[in-house]
Amino acid sequence: MNRKLTQTVIMGVCCMLFLGACSSLSSESRERLSFNDGWLFSLADDSLAARPEFVDSGWRKLNLPHDWAIEGDFSQDNPSGTGGGALPGGVGWYRKTFVAENKDKGKHFRIEFDGVYMNSEVFINGTCLGKRPYGYISFSYDLTPYLKWGEKNVIAVRVDNAEQPNSRWYSGCGIYRNVWLLKTGDVCVAEWGTYVTTAKVDGQGASLNLVTTLENTGKENADVTVRSVLKDAEGKEVAQVESPANVVAEKSVKIAQKLQVTSPQLWDVEHPYLYSLVTEVMEGGQCVDRYITPVGIRTFSFDATKGFVLNGKPTKINGVCMHHDLGCLGAAVNVRAMERQLQMLKEMGCNGIRCSHNPPAPEWLDLCDRMGFIVMDEAFDMWRKKKTAYDYSLYFNEWHERDLHDFILRDRNHPSVFMWSIGNEVLEQWSDAQADTLSLEEANLILNFGHSADMLAKEGEVSVNSLLTKKLADFVKALDPTRPVTAGCNEPNPANHLFRSEALDIIGYNYHNVNIPDVPRNFPGKPFIITESNSALMTRGYYRMPSDEMFIWPERWDKPFYDATFACSSYDNCHAPWGNTHEENLLLTKKNDFISGQYVWTGFDYIGEPTPYGWPARSSYFGIIDLAGFPKDVYYLYQSEWSNKQVLHLFPHWNWTAGQDVDMWCYYNQADEVELFVNGKSQGVKAKDENHLHVVWRVKYEPGSVKVVARKDGKVVGEKEIRTAGEPKKIRLTPDRNTLNADGKDLSFVTVEIVDAEGNLCPLADNLVHFEVEGNLFIAGVDNGSQTSMERFKDNKRKAFNGKCLVVLQNAGKAGAARLKAVAEGLEDAVVEIVSE
Ligand code: GAL
Repeated sequence: MNRKLTQTVIMGVCCMLFLGACSSLSSESRERLSFNDGWLFSLADDSLAARPEFVDSGWRKLNLPHDWAIEGDFSQDNPSGTGGGALPGGVGWYRKTFVAENKDKGKHFRIEFDGVYMNSEVFINGTCLGKRPYGYISFSYDLTPYLKWGEKNVIAVRVDNAEQPNSRWYSGCGIYRNVWLLKTGDVCVAEWGTYVTTAKVDGQGASLNLVTTLENTGKENADVTVRSVLKDAEGKEVAQVESPANVVAEKSVKIAQKLQVTSPQLWDVEHPYLYSLVTEVMEGGQCVDRYITPVGIRTFSFDATKGFVLNGKPTKINGVCMHHDLGCLGAAVNVRAMERQLQMLKEMGCNGIRCSHNPPAPEWLDLCDRMGFIVMDEAFDMWRKKKTAYDYSLYFNEWHERDLHDFILRDRNHPSVFMWSIGNEVLEQWSDAQADTLSLEEANLILNFGHSADMLAKEGEVSVNSLLTKKLADFVKALDPTRPVTAGCNEPNPANHLFRSEALDIIGYNYHNVNIPDVPRNFPGKPFIITESNSALMTRGYYRMPSDEMFIWPERWDKPFYDATFACSSYDNCHAPWGNTHEENLLLTKKNDFISGQYVWTGFDYIGEPTPYGWPARSSYFGIIDLAGFPKDVYYLYQSEWSNKQVLHLFPHWNWTAGQDVDMWCYYNQADEVELFVNGKSQGVKAKDENHLHVVWRVKYEPGSVKVVARKDGKVVGEKEIRTAGEPKKIRLTPDRNTLNADGKDLSFVTVEIVDAEGNLCPLADNLVHFEVEGNLFIAGVDNGSQTSMERFKDNKRKAFNGKCLVVLQNAGKAGAARLKAVAEGLEDAVVEIVSE
């Protein structure tokens, strides 16, 4: 099933890329080609590297996407600090040579970057095309005027991530997202040039509004026809419309059209049905451009009393926040790695993702469209006020309009995107902050809506920060009036400058559960969402007892919290002081209809921000799933609440000291009661009540077995047994997929477990496992989910952590069988075969 989905996504992407090329109608049609392969890289600065004649023969060959930081060693001295993951930064250069073939003469070439972290500067044949500071934005440059036809052209990219910290989490370094070469004719659909919205869905069907921006980069005016064809998921045409357009030379024009769809299939989180809009530009009977836009037909609203309503049905947003790193693969985009994260979340019952706190990779949103997630798409983590020394605040004044514009245009056709967030916990929110003042020059730059000096002088009355909020929200609305604007705020007071602006359509709180009951009174008529919740802390496989004692860390930032274990308890009894337990928030959200839902901080652990610890901790404890992708116990709490799957999860393990008190927890659903047995002896029958989503037994440990039995209507509906594990004896390998696509990108995530002679997981094993690969696979990364491991992510060995580690295998571009062998001192080897085809 996994593989099928990957293929569908890849096919979808390919169709979008190559449909132009497939069109038999014209040689002028667009081609969008991957520009990822065959780059040279050097991790050093050299001002001469922009020049075409620069000798780069000693540079390293690689294919993009690439993240040089993930290849490095952890060090306390790395400038990112532990907040940024303690991995290296620096300045790197990339160069690629390509031939602009004579047969393409007359076409327009653009180079498109989905994201470069950060401060990129792009050159062609020595000429600078531009700089782009923001590391999460997609951008492109016109290459046409600089191309040498029939000859070699050199693209050089300087990436500067030397000045750190510039992020509160791991950013990655380099050209970490895909790069494309786009070829078009003179008249074509402009970049992100379609805009499809659902005007209405009723008994007559759905009415869609289309706006197509055409551009004419040629020297002559063009009379064209825009043909917009809507196709269903099988590729069958369901509606079409044609309009004439005159596109003046070197200008662009917008064409508005309407489409009526009878009996539309609606997009929702369970059935994310996708149509595609094929926009064809016809000139003189020929198709000169063909552009595909995914379309999901759905209606939605955020309501102050009913919460989020999708296609007329109140639907709780059961979401998680995610940062962009892919664990041991770092920030380097890989569609399968992203898909795996989303699949695990979907299996848990999650139906929403907050792309925190920055625009995601385009493929991430493609996956969310296809898999059915309600996305809160977020622009920034800061505005003018900095959170770290060298962050985006340095560029905000100059760049925020451009970045926000490009972000909205790029993402506004994704059916999965339901709201825009203009910021996360921006420091401009604080009501008790000194009134901000702006110089006229700065005011003109950032506010730019005709405020006179007099108005700005009345700072106390008209808060600059409210004006800025309104400016940003209005800016977004002008580009997409169909979605609400929100922001993640951690000042719940209505005097918060963002709230005061009245520009936010949805009130969004990060944390502050105690203030949530007051929301309807404080913000009458306003919809509400928990933009971020919990910040609970857990280390997979570590349990601190007694489990009814809360560990709320860090106590104070000026008093670093150190515990010899550098671990956080996996009972739901540990969280940051501004947060709460997972269970508390599930109950709160469930019991209050006016809460549209929540985005839990976070779905997966991410690199950086190892609250509550500092060095040597270097990745986060917040995830429901650890950095390697192994679920923590609380995963099953969510699954029991959010999904229809039957859940019976008992924890912790059963390897303790004889006679010790052990708290055994159980998450379950679809049963009336559960009974625990220690070596066959009943420890009592328990059942959840409306204020508890788990049950617990305190039992005396004795080696052997602990078992839970679930019953419904008196009948046994499930059983789970955990046995005391003996000494580590063997390695067990479990690939998530045994068959890969031979595309050079596909991945198999292999779980490595240390087990005893009977196959029980050894819950504390930390054996060092070596990996040998034969055949057409290579090791893309290794991990074990430990937040304090100093082992490299790029290696052929890894210690197990609490019994498990992970090796990620990547297809090397050819079909055939390959073998992974895992070897550890004193243990029986394990071998697994993986086929690429
Ligand atoms: C929030 C913040 C997140 C993350 C989290 C950790 O306040 O928005 O980015 O830092 O705290 O608890």
